[in-house]
Amino acid sequence: MLSLSAIQDARERIADAVRLTPMEYSYTFSERTGAAVHLKLENFQRTGAFKLRGALNRITTLSAAEQDAGVVTASAGNHAQGVALAATRAGVDATIVMPEHAPISKVKATRRYGGRVVLDGVDYEEAQARAHEIEEKEDRTYVHAFDDEMVMAGQGTIGLEILEQQPDVETVIVPIGGGGLISGIATAIKAQQPDVRIIGVQAEGASSVIDSLAAGEIRSRDSVDTVADGIATRSVGEQPFEIIQERVDEVVTVSDEEIALALTLLLERSKTLVEGAGAVALSALLEDRFEYDDDEVIVPVLCGGNIDMNVLTTVILRGMIQLGRYLKIRTVLPDQPGALEGLIEIIADKGANIYEIHHERASREIGMSDTSVELELETHGPEHAADLLATLRDAGYTVDVLE
Ligand SMILES: Cc1ncc(COP(=O)(O)O)c(C=O)c1O
Repeated sequence: MLSLSAIQDARERIADAVRLTPMEYSYTFSERTGAAVHLKLENFQRTGAFKLRGALNRITTLSAAEQDAGVVTASAGNHAQGVALAATRAGVDATIVMPEHAPISKVKATRRYGGRVVLDGVDYEEAQARAHEIEEKEDRTYVHAFDDEMVMAGQGTIGLEILEQQPDVETVIVPIGGGGLISGIATAIKAQQPDVRIIGVQAEGASSVIDSLAAGEIRSRDSVDTVADGIATRSVGEQPFEIIQERVDEVVTVSDEEIALALTLLLERSKTLVEGAGAVALSALLEDRFEYDDDEVIVPVLCGGNIDMNVLTTVILRGMIQLGRYLKIRTVLPDQPGALEGLIEIIADKGANIYEIHHERASREIGMSDTSVELELETHGPEHAADLLATLRDAGYTVDVLE
């Protein structure tokens, strides 16, 4: 099983190529939770995610013959970039199979780092099958994204950094996809400070570890569905599962809406951009998915920042809805001059801002002398939104909330 010394060796090997990422105390999240929250900002790692660590450790320990033959891997995105850059640095040829619908930003970045990208398969598992075909045919070494001791050792270097940067840490929260990241971090930390709690977090729509822990054996999901594409994995790896059973204290889940909220808060309050998987650790803390004490020193690992800009737009909108700062409503007005004015006056009096107004006259659901009006509004928070709705209804408007 993965050892502390393997992780310490990895650190020496990869030190020149990776960034020692910052650990930042967060006033906002400490105030919000009552804990002492220190964010491990691995989203500032080169390539935008921790994956470079494991890929470098794996590729630099290949034999000369293996390096000459090249490597192949499958990835939904971040491992692809890590392998591409690690291989380019080592002068090794890399073929990377990515699922057909992998985020465009991740595909482009992988190419930029020097990887040859093959788009194949609906998800990670199908891409992986194709990558294994290439492995056999071209005699390349397969660099697994998580089920590999060298890869896990590389990811574990984050655990060494956490203990050095925050020696009084009591709880570390780590996202889980295939389980390589948490296996490395848990090993590095438990070997040195066994009392530090390690909490794993999965997305609700990709919670294979929860199912597997309950069953006592690995359970795969037939499909996965989450905005956190970095952890959208159908199954935990074999080696990680053993390590998780032994070294992880608790595994919890968060929903996509909760992930969107944490991501939006990080952006607005901490000026920090993360991807969905990068927000789940903080999300689990904000949603009280596990128990903790006041002033407990907690480190959520923000493991990646590679998010497609169009996904980001949707996620921020969802986050604003969660925060009560965006409200979409529909009401029916008589289709005559001045009818809209009364409605708008109430909205203005209440201090809400109108983003959009849309009139709909063709709907069969309304009378021919009426018009349906949809409004998108900026509100100050849940209480303000509720107050505005109550005032409109008191004034006689029938209001449906659409978002
Ligand atoms: C940003 C991010 N977070 C977390 C993970 C999950 O890592 P692991 O598969 O080692 O559990 C990944 C995996 O790709 C990732 O890209």
